[in-house]
Amino acid sequence: MLRKSPFKHKKILIGITGGIAAYKIPQLVRILKKEGAEVQVVLSESAKSFVTPQTLSVLSEKPALSDFFKSDQGEWNNHVHLGLWADLILIAPAGANTLAKMSHGICDNLLMSVILSARCPIFVAPAMDLDMWTHPSTQSNIQTLVNRGVHMIEPEEGSLASGLEGKGRMAEPENIAHVLSGYLAPKPNYFLGKRVLVTAGGTQEPIDPVRYIGNHSSGKMGFAIAEQLIQLGAEVELVYGAVTVVPPTNCQSYQTRTAKEMKAKCDEIFPTCDVLIMAAAVADYHVVDVAAEKIKKTDDTLMLALAKNPDILKSLSEAKKEHQVLIGFALETEQEEFHALEKLQKKNLDCIVLNSLNNPKAGFAVDTNEVTLFCKDGEQYHIPTQQKDEVAAALLNKVGDWLSKTNP
Ligand code: C5P
Repeated sequence: MLRKSPFKHKKILIGITGGIAAYKIPQLVRILKKEGAEVQVVLSESAKSFVTPQTLSVLSEKPALSDFFKSDQGEWNNHVHLGLWADLILIAPAGANTLAKMSHGICDNLLMSVILSARCPIFVAPAMDLDMWTHPSTQSNIQTLVNRGVHMIEPEEGSLASGLEGKGRMAEPENIAHVLSGYLAPKPNYFLGKRVLVTAGGTQEPIDPVRYIGNHSSGKMGFAIAEQLIQLGAEVELVYGAVTVVPPTNCQSYQTRTAKEMKAKCDEIFPTCDVLIMAAAVADYHVVDVAAEKIKKTDDTLMLALAKNPDILKSLSEAKKEHQVLIGFALETEQEEFHALEKLQKKNLDCIVLNSLNNPKAGFAVDTNEVTLFCKDGEQYHIPTQQKDEVAAALLNKVGDWLSKTNP
């Protein structure tokens, strides 16, 4: 059977910046064109010292652009249009200067404007001298970009243009094409046909007939996950507590109130499920003696005895069968990563999703979130601030990839 190239009909914008490795980009353009991609090249001014626009125009079959204006009649190269046109942008070679500009949003040429206008995935293939690569400012710019979701194609080791030996050579065109191909290739959809139990919202523990102990959970993240799973073709069972938004309608859902009720429902459904995603904010304690009547404010102080709730996730992990997958959430106010990893291990989970409470655009009530996924084999993946439905999509994409690899 003929292989369908992942590049077929893909619109790839290659940004070339000044560096000796730019001479290799015509070869990359040839590879991508041969695989069926549409390629648009944008060069920085200094890139032209290393590779000619003519060569790139001929190979890409499109004018290689570098100026905002096409002519002195004022016709311009619309950077917004170019940024939105691309399915994927690759900056190669990306020197230390370009990485710094990208990390700080400096927009002083056509290429930088295109990058800032883009909504598609961005890949960067750095190339620079050994000491520039290891310099803390370069490394910190790279970290900023990675945290923002930019994909790095690591430079390779070898002899450098300076005569030094070490890391800093741009990845070879064939290797860059390989990385992009892996990214664009259709992924197996792990969740298709899987039965997934999702919990969402907060539990409420009654104090008396009118009061309760609760938390700020809105249910938005758990519902976004359920919605996304439905779109991926999973059969979703949704158990939710107190929420501020409406649950998805195209799945089985059950509302529970207390941790005990939520546990009972999960205990009932989990044995027939393949995956559990426990996004609910379950109260750790409940009131020992719930008053039958409304408590009167007669005394100056009121003591409530609290007893520990069952840990739903932990007890399900003890009952879990080999094929079942457990994913928990963690929300910490200090030593976040340490505590998240501790929970991953103590609750015998496959993955844990750490919410970033330090970011005002992440957490309970807001529509956006920022999370980090930790998998039990040490793999981790950061999902930068985005709308909760986008975070859910990115999270399930990553979890699905990881599960296809580790739990086929
Ligand atoms: O221990 P901690 O409450 O921080 O753990 C968070 C994870 O454990 C979440 O996935 C939450 O839904 C789950 N959990 C639970 N039962 C509890 C407390 C938390 O299932 N009683």
